[in-house]
Amino acid sequence: MSFLADRLARIKPSPTIAMTTRASEMRAQGHDIISLSAGEPDFDTPEHIRDAGKAAIDAGHTRYTPVDGTPSLKRAICDKFARENGLDYAPSQVSVGTGGKQILFNALLATLDHCDEVVIPAPYWVSYPDMVLLAGGVPVIVECGIADGFRLTPQALDAAITPRTKWLILNSPSNPSGAGYSRDEMRALTDVMLRHPDVYILSDDIYEHLVFDGFEFVTPAQVEPQLKDRVLTMNGVSKAYAMTGWRIGYGAGPESLIRAMAKLQSQSTSNPCSISQYAAETALTGPQDYVAESRDVFQRRRDLVVAGLNACPGIDCPVPQGAFYVYPSIAALIGKTSAAGTRIDDDEAFANALLDETGVAVVFGAAFGLSPHFRISYATSDAQLTEAMARIRRFCEGCN
Ligand SMILES: Cc1ncc(COP(=O)(O)O)c(C=O)c1O
Repeated sequence: MSFLADRLARIKPSPTIAMTTRASEMRAQGHDIISLSAGEPDFDTPEHIRDAGKAAIDAGHTRYTPVDGTPSLKRAICDKFARENGLDYAPSQVSVGTGGKQILFNALLATLDHCDEVVIPAPYWVSYPDMVLLAGGVPVIVECGIADGFRLTPQALDAAITPRTKWLILNSPSNPSGAGYSRDEMRALTDVMLRHPDVYILSDDIYEHLVFDGFEFVTPAQVEPQLKDRVLTMNGVSKAYAMTGWRIGYGAGPESLIRAMAKLQSQSTSNPCSISQYAAETALTGPQDYVAESRDVFQRRRDLVVAGLNACPGIDCPVPQGAFYVYPSIAALIGKTSAAGTRIDDDEAFANALLDETGVAVVFGAAFGLSPHFRISYATSDAQLTEAMARIRRFCEGCN
């Protein structure tokens, strides 16, 4: 009998963290490494938010709080949903957790029974399938290829739903592809969902504010109000306000689900960090300049990276609508051999060879459920990105 539980064998460690760790180890050994694998803004948390955290400590907000968030943060979240998404939620329909990750985890653990299915469009954020597996459910992966702009089509959604389906997970703009659903595309999906009254939507809106070229962000409960009681709208402060380490995420949905999630949270982490909750409240209610400023920086970097990658022989990089990732195809490089003699059999071999031979760390597409691709996070300086593009180009030019 193994001491470790069977459920642990169902999941794998995060491949994005594994790649970041490998890059750090190589750097520690003295290699000149450019890491394009991390999923967080490279900016500091804005000063007024940092000050709010310090003030919360000095004001003595250092004790347990209500399990799923302070009343004032919940109020600020309701105001955010009303102001930015046209969604009317009461505080009793809001849950605050230790990052959006805990909100997703709570929702899946609170609802999935053995063999319940969750439809996950691929490429997907690496944690969705493993969270479903941990909760005892079955991830139903629907590949959404480059020809579909990495977006789920209504036909593919309809075909994936079975009597065992409990959730559809949507993530717009997406990690890893950066693809976002327009209002019409979202409407086509919500129309399908209207025909399946037992299936809920988990809408991961964490990259809401990082949309480019005037792209209109939409979320399912806003596009189809009839679905509102079957949608958990998840969001957080990590990406919008450069607050990844503060660990505050939130979700809004039907009260019965929110209560169930709070019950779980009460027996795991009790409450999200009290200090971080005060800082998050300031993020949501204070000046919003950072949001637009960071969006402009990311849009410029996206353009730099897309142009740089499309100048590389064998790489095809679509222009994403948002987030801070690109997800180029390397279909034309599969079967070739790098200048140093590595055969590129798949996208994992490509990513490993790129790291070993050029010092650029990216994450291979198989980790996100759609090959042959790789993900670049461009949340790093223009200088690093420019150098990385030159190295990738040299690598590709050396392949034959
Ligand atoms: C698509 C997506 N959802 C959710 C999260 C979780 O973010 P957090 O737990 O920091 O709120 C991430 C973080 O990388 C993400 O990329």
